[in-house]
Amino acid sequence: MLSITINNLHFPNPFLLASGILDESADTMFRIIKHGAGGVVTKSIGMKKRGGYQNPVIYELPYGLINAMGLPNPGIEAFGEEMKKLKNCGVPVIGSIFGGTTDEFVYLAKKMENYGADAVELNLSCPHAKGYGMEIGVNPNLVAEIVGEVKKSVSIPVWCKLTPNVTDIVEIAKAADKADALVMINTLKAMAIDIEAQRPVLSNTYGGLSGPCVKPVGLRAVYDVFKEVDKPIIGVGGVCSWTDALEYFMAGASAVQIGTAIATKGPTIFAEISRDVADWLKKHGYDSIKDVVGVAHR
Ligand SMILES: Cc1cc2nc3c(=O)[nH]c(=O)nc-3n(C[C@H](O)[C@H](O)[C@H](O)COP(=O)(O)O)c2cc1C
Repeated sequence: MLSITINNLHFPNPFLLASGILDESADTMFRIIKHGAGGVVTKSIGMKKRGGYQNPVIYELPYGLINAMGLPNPGIEAFGEEMKKLKNCGVPVIGSIFGGTTDEFVYLAKKMENYGADAVELNLSCPHAKGYGMEIGVNPNLVAEIVGEVKKSVSIPVWCKLTPNVTDIVEIAKAADKADALVMINTLKAMAIDIEAQRPVLSNTYGGLSGPCVKPVGLRAVYDVFKEVDKPIIGVGGVCSWTDALEYFMAGASAVQIGTAIATKGPTIFAEISRDVADWLKKHGYDSIKDVVGVAHR
């Protein structure tokens, strides 16, 4: 009832781990898989090891998180060890990558393919790392070039993760027309101020807003792109419960990724959402999750 196939990859359920949360090592990803995730997306990995920004890098709000981690990661060479351990982990592994140029994206994608990733997710959307992510992902020409070149270089599916920090996300989604699937959304560019210190809270000043408060923005992005672009969409942003997930499916997502809710509710959220979405489908006479994808457009 919950299993889905996206780009010929079989997912036992449509609830995947989002990039950046407990996914810098194989051990933590195994933990998430044991808790019932239908697939895992790795931390975004770049050409070289990066330490990320100095603390504070996370600020908790009553309705979400602002993070400016600064894309800390071990670098693509070292990450091969983690990918090796994930072989035969039982669910698809999506290798997330970030680069500063088209050539870097191509290099990293080929590496991920060689490491056995089932698909590669291009992070064209991180809002707080200079020269990376959103700085590239707001430019439709660059998006088209990077997606096109990566597509030519690998035979695994290429997923493109989009930023909501644009005037028209449909324009960017169309620019990524060579992608096999679209992932949306990454975090919203945001900040917080410490009134006693009289300065920004985060060492980087700006960070990315995630969690329950961004769900309406993610839903709107999925809904708008579903109307205009004919390819699978993976919804992400503020999924904290089975009702949130169903909203994303009805807007047009074939699967959802979960990030911040793992930090706030714990990894048991995967099993809980699977159980409760399956109950809802049964109660409403649906045989498969596929039957509710995009129903809000009828
Ligand atoms: C601490 C943290 C680190 C993140 N790191 C990454 C990352 O490395 N690559 C990426 O594409 N997205 C990253 N994200 C964004 C998430 O994958 C996701 O798109 C966003 O947080 C919205 O989903 P959520 O509300 O379920 O967290 C990160 C988010 C958080 C909170």
